[in-house]
Amino acid sequence: MRYNARHFDLSGLKGISDETLEQHFKLYEGYVAQTNALTARLAELLKNGGVDEKKMLEFSELKRRLGFEHNGMVLHEYYFGNLRKHGERGPARGSPFREAVDASWPSYQKWEADFVAVGKMRGVGWAICCQDPATGHLCNQWIEMHESGHVAGFVPILVMDVWEHAFIHDYAAKDRPKYIEAFFSNLDWRAVESRIAKGKRHAAAA
Ligand SMILES: [Fe+2]
Repeated sequence: MRYNARHFDLSGLKGISDETLEQHFKLYEGYVAQTNALTARLAELLKNGGVDEKKMLEFSELKRRLGFEHNGMVLHEYYFGNLRKHGERGPARGSPFREAVDASWPSYQKWEADFVAVGKMRGVGWAICCQDPATGHLCNQWIEMHESGHVAGFVPILVMDVWEHAFIHDYAAKDRPKYIEAFFSNLDWRAVESRIAKGKRHAAAA
């Protein structure tokens, strides 16, 4: 199983420069390459039907590393996939995302305040709005690095990268809030809402 890096045409975003995006795409391609390399090496360690005891240390470390690289690849695809040129600041009233927020939160403003607060948390990671497949409710989560903090089975709906590489070319480190505002002005709500639909199908299947 090999993954191919996807192409995202995002030049011309507001407040997130093309230079930042070019560097970010290269980092993403690195996660794809590392995921493929780790997967291949792990398969090699299993080629005789089991892992040799002498290779268990290597196997364990590579398996742990795969969680970092694989989530790094997938989360960047969600992130680039929910941005677009001429994006809109907020979801339309009555849209699937607003409906899901209204069913989960006292107001859209409270949901957004919580998401932004998660994005401002100190540390290296991601702010992710997820849907609980059992209830359809939305919640905002802090994901440390790429792999720590996910709730099993929850579906990522809106994904924001807040590692410094996502904005440090355009803003000072202390100005992460300005990057978060730029992120919100470039959102592709149709892409976000296509994930909501998946969430609903997931709930029906459960
Ligand atoms: Fe990133």
